[in-house]
Amino acid sequence: MDIIKINNATKYYLIKKNKFYANNNISFNIKQGDIVGFLGKNGAGKTTLIKSICNLIKLDSGSISIKNKEINKNPKVVHDNIGVVLEGARNLYNFLTVDYNLRYFSYLNKIKDSQLELRIKNLLEMFELLEKRKEVVNNLSRGMQQKVAIIIAMLKNPDILILDEPTLGLDIVSKTKMKILLKTLKDKYKKTIIISSHDLDVIENVCNKVVIFEKGKVIKYGSISDLKLKESENRYEIILKSSEAVNLKDISYEKEERIIKLETANLKEILNKINMNSIIKIEKKVKSYAHLYLT
Ligand SMILES: Nc1ncnc2c1ncn2[C@@H]1O[C@H](COP(=O)(O)OP(=O)(O)O)[C@@H](O)[C@H]1O
Ligand SMILES: [Mg+2]
Repeated sequence: MDIIKINNATKYYLIKKNKFYANNNISFNIKQGDIVGFLGKNGAGKTTLIKSICNLIKLDSGSISIKNKEINKNPKVVHDNIGVVLEGARNLYNFLTVDYNLRYFSYLNKIKDSQLELRIKNLLEMFELLEKRKEVVNNLSRGMQQKVAIIIAMLKNPDILILDEPTLGLDIVSKTKMKILLKTLKDKYKKTIIISSHDLDVIENVCNKVVIFEKGKVIKYGSISDLKLKESENRYEIILKSSEAVNLKDISYEKEERIIKLETANLKEILNKINMNSIIKIEKKVKSYAHLYLT
């Protein structure tokens, strides 16, 4: 079933009396249970469409339906079905504890007292935040704050979860953790999820569908595997022990303390030149079609 239908969605801003189209005639549907990545450079129009889906801004033309109900005419369908974390997770009360925040938002979402405790506990457990429950939000790392914001969006157990740039502003370690969390979410939380990101890696690792935005338009929509199959350019990442004798003349590589790292499209050539005992890892990297739009 198509849980979200986007039909010619158009949104413009007047800039010096000229229309600037943040979303220009966008149409596509999202199936229930899909994990959809909105991919595109900054300014491509991802957040604008997310805000429109959540009925936070009004389209200039076109329409959006959730469960076959047009959101303009049925604003309640948005509240009943969507949990969203907008960019920057600014919905938290920084000087309250995690617990207070979760309880406060549970009350706003009219979650029954009888369900509240267990639901909060399960979510905190899943996000590995149980021991931070009594901590003031302000004292948490950026990554943890982002996780609390996601928990809040999930409190009412919505059928659709939308995360706008969930890894934005996170350091490498927190970003990796967030990616793992998003994968867990995908496996455990059998819902429709939209994740927007300008980072291909996040989308490729977590989503099964991808929508590519460029300058307010959707230029591609398909399953991640289709995009890869059509226009893939395989490369191999090879990691070798630097202590073993290897002959890497004429080949560019990176040397670290005990390892040598290199990337190649021609695996055979490299295998002919190296000592097989030196191989620590060979990994096929698929460069997807989507990547072309981000470089
Ligand atoms: N309130 C606004 N007024 C004017 N321009 C806006 C406004 N909101 C967004 N835009 C512009 O619309 C374009 C799309 O923005 P956005 O949807 O935030 O992109 P993304 O989330 O893909 O980075 C950008 O060029 C942005 O500057
Ligand atoms: Mg954005």
